[in-house]
Amino acid sequence: MLPRSQQTRPRASPRGSGQISAPRFPRSPRGGRGALPRCLTLWRSSRRTFPLALDLGSGRGYIARHLNREVIEKLVQVDIAENVFKSTVESEIPTVSVVADEEFLPFKEDTFDLVVSSLSLHWVNDLPKAFREIHQVLKPDGVFIGAMFGGDTLYELRCSLQLAELEREGGFSPHVSPFVAVSDLGHLLSRAGFNTLTVDTDEIQVNYPGLFEVMEDLQGMGESNCSWNRKPLLHRDTMLAAAAIYQEMYGNSDGSVPATFQIFYMIGWKFHESQAKPAQRGSATVSLGDLAKIDKLLHEK
Ligand SMILES: C[S@@+](CC[C@H](N)C(=O)[O-])C[C@H]1O[C@@H](n2cnc3c(N)ncnc32)[C@H](O)[C@@H]1O
Repeated sequence: MLPRSQQTRPRASPRGSGQISAPRFPRSPRGGRGALPRCLTLWRSSRRTFPLALDLGSGRGYIARHLNREVIEKLVQVDIAENVFKSTVESEIPTVSVVADEEFLPFKEDTFDLVVSSLSLHWVNDLPKAFREIHQVLKPDGVFIGAMFGGDTLYELRCSLQLAELEREGGFSPHVSPFVAVSDLGHLLSRAGFNTLTVDTDEIQVNYPGLFEVMEDLQGMGESNCSWNRKPLLHRDTMLAAAAIYQEMYGNSDGSVPATFQIFYMIGWKFHESQAKPAQRGSATVSLGDLAKIDKLLHEK
């Protein structure tokens, strides 16, 4: 089960009214965009062609830039913020844009051959439901490939803000959104109906001049905290204390501070008769004890 805190994000206001802002990815290849090539390495490894694909939480469509027509004939991009579609990046694949919420997909069952999602699922209120929706819109033998922030993402910022707020204001409220744990992810995907699962994790550390730059960058990426129970304002005094704590506890020797992004990668397939299945128990013709002689045994066959 997900921790209760996972369910505390507000429903993003529809049609990009500002509660979830479109990401700008302002300066360097920081947190978010670093995940993209990794996600697509997984995607390419599936060695399939996909006539119709869906990109969930597409943003400006960076994923499309890494896809080609030989593999995908048509791409549907879905995002909850309408304004992201005003400045989408160019792609060679014919693309359709749809404003919708990942938790309520407006597509028929068994529609897509491939669903991809890069760094948007950490925003949804109800992750189990979003996975069920994805599974439903996939065709049998279709595949879901996703990357999402999780686990200990931004733990340095979370701890520094909590300690500073405790010290200056006598209590704290969350300033970094809660993230799903990797141990939950496999269960959630398999409960949604996916099989032949792969879940992998990666950690990216990005160095910043200080806490204020970390927060500014997150805001620029449209990644500010949006928990219902967040406190809208932090006192300047608390912020200065948090910056000092961040530097003291986590600072690098060159004066910069690291921000850790933990990214979970997942692949799950929708069941189809043709997929490989485990052999019947007791049907083995070779003993595990003979594993060292496997080359010789295969040769003899
Ligand atoms: C960090 S951006 C990632 C954009 C893109 N996938 C990429 O890798 O460049 C997250 C995107 O998810 C969208 N998003 C957030 N919550 C969503 C939801 N519930 N349904 C659909 N899109 C959502 C945001 O509007 C934003 O464009």
